[in-house]
Amino acid sequence: MKMWETFRSVAEFDSFELDGTKRRLKKVASIDDLRRLAKRRLPAGVFDYIDGGAEDERTLGTNSSDFAKLEFNPRILRDVSDLDTSTEIFGVPASMPIVLSPTGFTRIAHSEGELAVTRSAGRAGIPWSLSTMGTRSIEECAAANPNGEKWFQIYTWKDRGLVQELVARAKDAGYGAVWLTVDTAVLGRRERDVRRGMTLPPKLGPQTLIDGALHPAWTWDFLNGGPITFANIVGRHAEDGSTAITLADHVAKQFDQALSWDDIEWLRSIWDGPIVLKGIQTVADAKQAVAMGVEGLGLSNHGGRQLDDAPTPVSLIEPVRNEIGDQATIICDGGIRRGSDIVKAIALGADAVSLGRPYFLALGAAGEAGVDWLLDFYRTGLERTMALTGCRSLAEIDRDLVAWKR
Ligand SMILES: Cc1cc2nc3c(=O)[nH]c(=O)nc-3n(C[C@H](O)[C@H](O)[C@H](O)COP(=O)(O)O)c2cc1C
Repeated sequence: MKMWETFRSVAEFDSFELDGTKRRLKKVASIDDLRRLAKRRLPAGVFDYIDGGAEDERTLGTNSSDFAKLEFNPRILRDVSDLDTSTEIFGVPASMPIVLSPTGFTRIAHSEGELAVTRSAGRAGIPWSLSTMGTRSIEECAAANPNGEKWFQIYTWKDRGLVQELVARAKDAGYGAVWLTVDTAVLGRRERDVRRGMTLPPKLGPQTLIDGALHPAWTWDFLNGGPITFANIVGRHAEDGSTAITLADHVAKQFDQALSWDDIEWLRSIWDGPIVLKGIQTVADAKQAVAMGVEGLGLSNHGGRQLDDAPTPVSLIEPVRNEIGDQATIICDGGIRRGSDIVKAIALGADAVSLGRPYFLALGAAGEAGVDWLLDFYRTGLERTMALTGCRSLAEIDRDLVAWKR
């Protein structure tokens, strides 16, 4: 009898979740879990395109592991019942200090691609960025997230007329800032893609067919989603994404290796909003960017996809902040895998952080619901860390809150 009573006191059965996406997300607790789920659902070549880095992937690893070199000096008894994670980035309110970084070929993870990501960012109240190598057009994305803050990222094509057109379209569609990516004179050697002969879009070879058969949900979505193209430059070049080409070939043919500091003035002449240089990797370049009136510094090594053994963004925040003072907005781009990483970056002097792989993998793992899950994961992680360290607002997160471990 006692046995039965004890059993009844603890027995509680969850009702079976009929929605497969919700069921999968229920078992996800961390970004590592999300990554594993994406790995299971995506063909290997697609997963590796998103997840991989350059050469030995050392920078890919240290971008996030460097956050573990910092520890907190938590303050106690500070009434943290009312927390405020909000901020302003270039004068525009954001519910938390996160920007979604631009990523190319986003529809490879899910047919909705950028539309799903921008809608989710809009709901979360944070800026989202469209890559020039995006697979949804500037205008479609603006229509999907009309009220949210949107940034446009440019690579400089040899065809400057094309860049000028894109920037004008972004302006007309209400985009608020431009990232100029400056770390991609040539493409980093991403050996996972080399090994798999990865092209964009993927070519149909025997390996792709086997991979597709092993990942039926992705294949069904891919085949029903319509052809994937570089939506903003389609028709402009023979290799615009409507024919399969390796990314390295595309970059070698179209990107302007002659890009230099003089081009910042040119960009200024065609865009009057904030400019963020994406790919600043030294204090000297941060200083020069500020001297040229650039409003935003994207401390970034392209998520470890370009130069292996580049410095990690987190290690640059403090030296750059000390050098430039309040003259520019600092965005730490790369390796942010928890809300606590955001608090560490802010404590060292960043104004915001930005994320690439986490939302791309979330999209592959669970579509738009996956991106919603992810942004909630960061928001609750940020709030929890603020509560546990005694910070009620971002302004209270100061340099004394963190120390480099000895
Ligand atoms: C699959 C993939 C595609 C990317 N495409 C672009 C791009 O088109 N333009 C760009 O400036 N950066 C691109 N990036 C870099 C991201 O904007 C960002 O710098 C990087 O992902 C940040 O590191 P994280 O992935 O650790 O968050 C890409 C990154 C990934 C993972």
